[in-house]
Amino acid sequence: MSKIKLVNIGKIATYNSQTKVVDSITGSDILINDGIIEKIDNDINENVEIFDCQNRLVTPGFVDPHTHPVFLNGREEEFGLRMQGATYQEIAEKGGGINSSVNGVRNTSNEELIALVTKRMDRFLKLGTTTIEAKSGYGLNVESELKSLEVLDLVNQNHAIDIIPTFLGAHAFPPEYKNDRNGYVDLLCNEMIPAVAGQGIAKYCDVFCENGYFNVKQSRKILEAAKKHGLIPRLHADEFEDSGAAELAAELGAVSADHLMAVSDVGIAKMAEGNVTATILPGTTFFLGSTNYAPVKKLMESGIDIALATDYNPGSCHIQSMPFIISLACIYIGMSVEDALRSATFNSAKTLNLEKEVGSIEIGKKADLVIWDLEKLIEIPYNVTDVPIIKVMKGGKFIF
Ligand code: NIG
Ligand code: FE
Repeated sequence: MSKIKLVNIGKIATYNSQTKVVDSITGSDILINDGIIEKIDNDINENVEIFDCQNRLVTPGFVDPHTHPVFLNGREEEFGLRMQGATYQEIAEKGGGINSSVNGVRNTSNEELIALVTKRMDRFLKLGTTTIEAKSGYGLNVESELKSLEVLDLVNQNHAIDIIPTFLGAHAFPPEYKNDRNGYVDLLCNEMIPAVAGQGIAKYCDVFCENGYFNVKQSRKILEAAKKHGLIPRLHADEFEDSGAAELAAELGAVSADHLMAVSDVGIAKMAEGNVTATILPGTTFFLGSTNYAPVKKLMESGIDIALATDYNPGSCHIQSMPFIISLACIYIGMSVEDALRSATFNSAKTLNLEKEVGSIEIGKKADLVIWDLEKLIEIPYNVTDVPIIKVMKGGKFIF
């Protein structure tokens, strides 16, 4: 058994699942036993290895609950086209968008993808993310979707970060099904979902439910098939237009509805009724040059829990930094830094059914911690692009 004690902590900022508020704890040490937080106290008399935090801020590691990291190349040419006025949807209609990443994944070996995803995970960890949800969704056939999930599994086994894989075969209609959309839905339900369940890697199934992509009827069919095979539903919902996706998330008992820039009042009411968490991706709004952020205040007033995520992907949001997402949430959405921290840690863990293990600094939880070269929580969003992290600890071990 290995024990380590963090001493001289300036401040511990963490959500407290008992009091249900974000605490700011001063004067306490943290004792970690075999990767688990054993004590948080000002008087821990154990003679064990010590790490001196030199009066700095300690927070939980971030939990990023929505990313798309399994792709080959970036799509910076689309970024350039947007600078000339094209919209994300126009670029997608002209053959860009999700489908332009499909050939890359289909024609690349596992080894090459593993190397790329590993490098991306190194970066996430350096930015303080210790648990991450990661979707397939650029393979769009049985073989390449299974390959994407296998890549995530292999990286997970060899990397300190914890990866929670999601099957997103319903990300777009692949070119070979361009004129037979229901045929692709049948392929998803009858072949891909059973194969993914049989493979046993993905825990969740996601659908891009949006006008021009999967409609509500198709999304319902896919997610019901997924549920039958033991995959838990989550949903890309009402990103560009309201299509009733938030309502569908509630109907299906999805853990989370994500994006929600265009969610309707009815959708919000249904989500509140169904206890669906709203995962907000302000990086996507920002990266697409929009100012139409999701109506977080309204969602919060309806009693809906908010989670924050990066949506890291090659097209609509090439951002990996949860600290930057917190800056956006504070600056553009008007979230308090305490709410933003809770949303980026505990609430995001809740959408992955992991809130008993990670997402806060509490006794019995994994020692997933970030030690900052900062004193106060508000300095995280205040520093915007600077990420003054001294150490990231994952399961009781310092990573860098
Ligand atoms: O969450 N909205 C759908 N999927 C991604 C975009 C992926 C891409 O453009 O490659 C998103 O924003
Ligand atoms: Fe996404």
